[in-house]
Amino acid sequence: MVDTSKGIKKVVARAVEKARREIGGTPESPSKGRLKWPIQCTVGPGLEGAIACESQVGFVNGSQGSLVYRGYDVLDLSAHSTFEEVSYLLIHGRLPTKSQLEKFERKLVEFRHIPGTMRVLMGFPVEKMNAMAAIRLGTNMMRQECTQLDVMEARRDPDTAISADEDSIAMEVPPSGEEHAIYEFPKARGQKSARSEKAMAAAAGIESATRLIAGTATITAAVARIREGRMPLEPDPELSHAANYLYMISGKRPSPAEAKIMDLAMILHADHGMNASTFASLVVASTLSDMYMSISSGVAALNGPLHGGANERVIETLEEIGDPGNVKAWYRARKAEGRKIPGFGHRVYKRYDPRARILGPIANYLTGSSERAKRLLETAHELEQVVIGDLGEEKGIYPNVDFYSGLVYTCLGIPTYLFTPTFAVARVAGWTARVLEYMKNNRIFRPRAIYTGRLNRRYQPLDERPG
Ligand SMILES: CC(C)(COP(=O)(O)OP(=O)(O)OC[C@H]1O[C@@H](n2cnc3c(N)ncnc32)[C@H](O)[C@@H]1OP(=O)(O)O)[C@@H](O)C(=O)NCCC(=O)NCCS
Repeated sequence: MVDTSKGIKKVVARAVEKARREIGGTPESPSKGRLKWPIQCTVGPGLEGAIACESQVGFVNGSQGSLVYRGYDVLDLSAHSTFEEVSYLLIHGRLPTKSQLEKFERKLVEFRHIPGTMRVLMGFPVEKMNAMAAIRLGTNMMRQECTQLDVMEARRDPDTAISADEDSIAMEVPPSGEEHAIYEFPKARGQKSARSEKAMAAAAGIESATRLIAGTATITAAVARIREGRMPLEPDPELSHAANYLYMISGKRPSPAEAKIMDLAMILHADHGMNASTFASLVVASTLSDMYMSISSGVAALNGPLHGGANERVIETLEEIGDPGNVKAWYRARKAEGRKIPGFGHRVYKRYDPRARILGPIANYLTGSSERAKRLLETAHELEQVVIGDLGEEKGIYPNVDFYSGLVYTCLGIPTYLFTPTFAVARVAGWTARVLEYMKNNRIFRPRAIYTGRLNRRYQPLDERPG
């Protein structure tokens, strides 16, 4: 590993140039000005084609294979920007001035400190938990630490205390009335206090977005260390967001090249249209829940192997194939079983994913020194050729962002179980930006299901049912 980021900048510049030649010009926006609702559209299973809302945060052009944040091509942002600047751009809607950026960076550094959340996290058996579940827990703890909302909503009100709710609390004696209940819990207040309303408003705003962008990195790094039997580290205020994230995981200050690569990976993962985790965040926000609850829903949705979990599967797949010479036979067998190849295909992209266009060359650059990484990369290249050769033209199946991100993370020393959490650390910027935007014109999400079941069935008492 060279310890200068100049080499990386050259690799990115070359990748951007090549991508530009292959993709063509900057995409036109599919729609200008405000739309007139209701909108006619054709909806497929999995809400394919459905339009959930209008947005100016970002645009994925699947047929061209390009990605835009707030009007800026992600290729340009990769070449010239930083994760901090991209986060500002996403949540504020414009590039910052120098002083705005410095102020935002100072806030992010300040908000890395979440001692209350750390204390609670360290009291949990995090080492035995799914890392994404632990991060969800952490973002919920941040809600408590940063807003006091939980305290306010659950503050005991002696006038309205009720007996235990027998639906949710285990009873030693079946209750036949309030006098038999064993436990007593305060009832949440029906009316929120003025202070609570204020806290609710703050918990939905830009400050909460900034806290979550900073804090999720701290939580994730702490989860990694606790799982490995080590104490979480204090954030280093001298380091950038990406460099500090790597430092808080490993305890080693990364080289400028490593820091730049992490920064790039974060830029490329910061936002991506109306994907499942973004939609999950918006659905929760639309009920007038708050930013912390919304983001923890995004984390939950990202956990699945069809979404953020795919990069872990890619590394497992490459390990399973073992060698470039085994790719063709492995692929034939996999295809015969009708199984998908992790890291390929996308609901929207029917061309090469622009993020993979940058991460692929970065993976090439990084793998020089490690035999294992070299073998994985050669296997990946061979697999890419074989899959594109078979399914590229015919089905529009190309590598997606997850195909190379796992290799890049591996070379940065990030353990496989931390791939999806690392994706979440970056995507918080997009989730929060889109929640902020949606809340300006909120309407609760309520799609329909088409009922295909039976009607008018006659209820049969238990002792009349056959068998
Ligand atoms: C991303 C993904 C979930 C998109 O799913 P989708 O839009 O619902 O697409 P479908 O599952 O309907 O696939 C459409 C067709 O492409 C094929 N296909 C999609 N992804 C494929 C893959 N990774 N490998 C092989 N074939 C694939 C399907 O078999 C299907 O073929 P068919 O029309 O003959 O039935 C899907 O491509 C996938 O599971 N990829 C692997 C997991 C992954 O990498 N996820 C990360 C996404 S960033």
